[in-house]
Amino acid sequence: TSSANKPPLEVLICAPRGFCAGVVRAIDAVEKALRIYGPPVYVRHEIVHNKYVVESLRRKGAIFVDELDEIPDTQAPVIFSAHGVPKSVPSEAVQRRFFAIDATCPLVTKVHREAEIHHKRGRHVVLIGHAGHPEVVGTMGQLPAGAITLIETVADVETLAPPADVELAYVTQTTLSVDDTAGVVAALQQRFPQIVSPHKQDICYATTNRQEAVKRVAPQVDAMIVVGSPNSSNSQRLREVAERAGCPISRLVLRAEDIDWSLFGNIRSLGLTAGASAPEVLVEEIIDAFAERYNVTVESVSTADESVFFPLPRELRDQAAE
Ligand code: F3S
Repeated sequence: TSSANKPPLEVLICAPRGFCAGVVRAIDAVEKALRIYGPPVYVRHEIVHNKYVVESLRRKGAIFVDELDEIPDTQAPVIFSAHGVPKSVPSEAVQRRFFAIDATCPLVTKVHREAEIHHKRGRHVVLIGHAGHPEVVGTMGQLPAGAITLIETVADVETLAPPADVELAYVTQTTLSVDDTAGVVAALQQRFPQIVSPHKQDICYATTNRQEAVKRVAPQVDAMIVVGSPNSSNSQRLREVAERAGCPISRLVLRAEDIDWSLFGNIRSLGLTAGASAPEVLVEEIIDAFAERYNVTVESVSTADESVFFPLPRELRDQAAE
């Protein structure tokens, strides 16, 4: 059909969106390991929380496992995902003489080191995060059992029962809601005025910037789509931020084929963003799907410039350029 027959749709696309520096580094690490060593390359956990990324690496020869015990004794490289791992994982890798490559995001490692320093100084650590998320499992696993207490909400602050007579400190997951976390921190500081805070907040630059852009766009549009996976924490938070900013329809969508057109069939404006693990090609796919039904105009709304870059994991850096 010609564009004259289609209703107009104004698409406001958030910037920054999509891949963060930690995700780029983790994917590059798997690709470089595949080029240098050839397949198979083992990866513990989804390297980043996106099925499309995982599938394309699988086609190139990556083998994804949940735990190291699923890997046969091998000379092949074993890569740890961007979310970070409990200390037990690298030690098991050493024991089994694996060639381990750690693709943990440096900003997650920073939180791990903070937790360790607090512990060495005799402080009990409170971790604000989502139970069961691999980053939380990894951060808890930096310290002996019982040295960290996980809390998720303001209500958890009220019932928190830290060991008596020890100093307290808190750290957080990197991909939380900036606003919710401010509330939990305020409650912690009210109840425990001496609690030690991170020097710079643990929620990372990418999470913060993507939420900021959504806050700007969401109040101006009829509906918002966040491109990302249901198991991606930062993507889920973006969907919530849009909803709370007053956007009547806010959905997390993995691929264009997942769009529920009964929701998006009768809108005049659409906000679009992508979680930190969602590739730009999927954003383009969504725009194309709308362009089949609407006469689309796209405008970028930018709230920050990003130029963060992390070098590859040390184990891959010294390898000669291909
Ligand atoms: Fe790292 Fe933040 Fe991305 S912690 S992996 S830069 S979402």
